[in-house]
Amino acid sequence: SAAEPAPAEPSKAENEKLVVGFAQIGQESGWRDAETADLQWYAAQNIDTIDFKFADAQQKQENQIKAIKSFIDMGVDVIGLAPVVETGWDAVLTEAKEAGIPVIFLDRSAAVADDLYATFIGADFELEGRTACDEMATLLGAEGGKVVELVGTVGATAAIGRQKGFTDQLANHPEIEVIDSQSGDFTRAKGKEVMESFLKTYGAEIKGVYAHNDDMMLGAIEAIKEAGFKPGQDIKTVSIDGVKAIFEAMAAGEANVNVECNPLLGEYFFTTAAKLKAGEAVDHRIVVPAEVHRAETAAEDLPNRKW
Ligand code: AHR
Repeated sequence: SAAEPAPAEPSKAENEKLVVGFAQIGQESGWRDAETADLQWYAAQNIDTIDFKFADAQQKQENQIKAIKSFIDMGVDVIGLAPVVETGWDAVLTEAKEAGIPVIFLDRSAAVADDLYATFIGADFELEGRTACDEMATLLGAEGGKVVELVGTVGATAAIGRQKGFTDQLANHPEIEVIDSQSGDFTRAKGKEVMESFLKTYGAEIKGVYAHNDDMMLGAIEAIKEAGFKPGQDIKTVSIDGVKAIFEAMAAGEANVNVECNPLLGEYFFTTAAKLKAGEAVDHRIVVPAEVHRAETAAEDLPNRKW
């Protein structure tokens, strides 16, 4: 009858949305905050088609495992994981596989059988390390010198690859010697602490610092200044990521070179997840390209930096 209300336009059923759970590591660095923000921004832009479930593991693998288990219980379409360390994932990824939920490793990888994950989207860490070594060699010139290394989180693929790449490339630069390597856990506070202890032990012998990320380097720069040396001059710096603060340091002459690692992975991640939901094939390895930036152009680069 005329009194009967017209049926509402059917809204997109929840289960038609792409439901994705992401187990993030935590908030250890500016780079990771930028990655999280980009994922959340992309999901918000696509709220009609994407249901994004985000878990912050506060640096703990056990929390990442709990998050994955809860995503499995919810029956999400795809699980994303940034593995804090490379080992210890077999059991939970086997559960995901048995539940028929594809897993994307985002930004870091894990040491598991190929059939336990669909793809790894992220940078080539060894290439970053080799590039960093070549840049350090250019900074130190023919004389070379002693270098200290601030390593990322022990057991993280980003730290393992960046260390291996740099170490391998030393074969081409015998004038450089890495005199000490210690973990600063990818954080500014620990980077500073470790650099303080390097400076106490080696003092003016140190000619260069290689840091696996910018946050540790920013801490190291503070330590270098407090010890009475000039970062970027007395002690050359090469770090990885490309956060704004390192560009500011480069523009101020307190840092030398940055090997970029792109955290803006939202589009890569969700488009890959959509393909997996649709049953399409995806490459087992998706390499995110990056560039090198040097102090000379930092002031010019700064206004264009996106993270
Ligand atoms: O896995 C990528 C690394 O993790 C970034 O270089 C670092 O800053 C982050 O914490």
